[in-house]
Amino acid sequence: MSVIDPEAFRRFEHLGWQEIASRYHDGFAAVTTQSTTALLDAASVGPGVRVLDVACGPGYVTAAAAGRGSIATGIDFSSEMIQEACDRYPAFDFREGDAEQLAFGDSEFAAVVSNFGMLHLGRPELAIREAFRVLQSGGRIAFTVWDTADKAIAFGIVIAAIQKYGDLNVPIPPGPPFFRFSNAEESRRVLSAAGFKNPVVTQVPQVWRLESPETLFDVMYNGSVRNAALLRAQKPEVLEAIRAEIRAGVQQRHCELPMPAVLASAEKGK
Ligand SMILES: C[S@@+](CC[C@H](N)C(=O)[O-])C[C@H]1O[C@@H](n2cnc3c(N)ncnc32)[C@H](O)[C@@H]1O
Repeated sequence: MSVIDPEAFRRFEHLGWQEIASRYHDGFAAVTTQSTTALLDAASVGPGVRVLDVACGPGYVTAAAAGRGSIATGIDFSSEMIQEACDRYPAFDFREGDAEQLAFGDSEFAAVVSNFGMLHLGRPELAIREAFRVLQSGGRIAFTVWDTADKAIAFGIVIAAIQKYGDLNVPIPPGPPFFRFSNAEESRRVLSAAGFKNPVVTQVPQVWRLESPETLFDVMYNGSVRNAALLRAQKPEVLEAIRAEIRAGVQQRHCELPMPAVLASAEKGK
């Protein structure tokens, strides 16, 4: 098993997000925004609630939270992503910041949410502890991740295609397992270890409707970080085979891919 260097992984992710920030929206917004309502409900976000959206990307969840009348702040470690968020939602509060070292005082928020952020962190336990620190008693944390590749079919198709024609062991900085928090028991364990009470894990059904059979390869290649690095590291002669296999997989499902999210939430006890 490869040893994880969280700093090396963080640098790799940071560089990746800086590069793809302007392309992320066209690729992923149609599917990541499907969990917004469930995420905000799980964190009891409503009028007047102070909420922190961690790894906010282009700001969808921050904007939706503000739309509920909450006092919302979005943070992301990519200055390019923060620029995207500010351009998209100029009226809202976005700041550059690290999930693993929050630049906020203790007990400042009543809710901390993160939509598809946890799976990109080198030290997710630290981020959960930081969320605990900035939450007031009775406050709620909620985060989403993708369900496992057998259920979140886009990942299933891409991973199977690479396994069939290419190589999954390429020299990219190893990070925590991509599907670690898809496991309900693991999510509950990490939340409880940070001090949270009553962790609950549910599935949010989502469907990714792709424009064409080519879209999935293009989005993964141009608009993601770890999966793009996996694809880019393949030998040129196998990349075409991988692309064709992904296209066929999407075609077989008529461009409609189930992409459920796993939603974990818990409370900072009183
Ligand atoms: C998959 S995107 C999710 C964006 C958005 N929340 C959404 O719902 O579409 C992951 C985001 O995590 C951010 N990110 C990764 N590591 C981070 C860290 N350590 N601190 C803050 N943001 C981070 C990336 O810059 C990227 O914007």
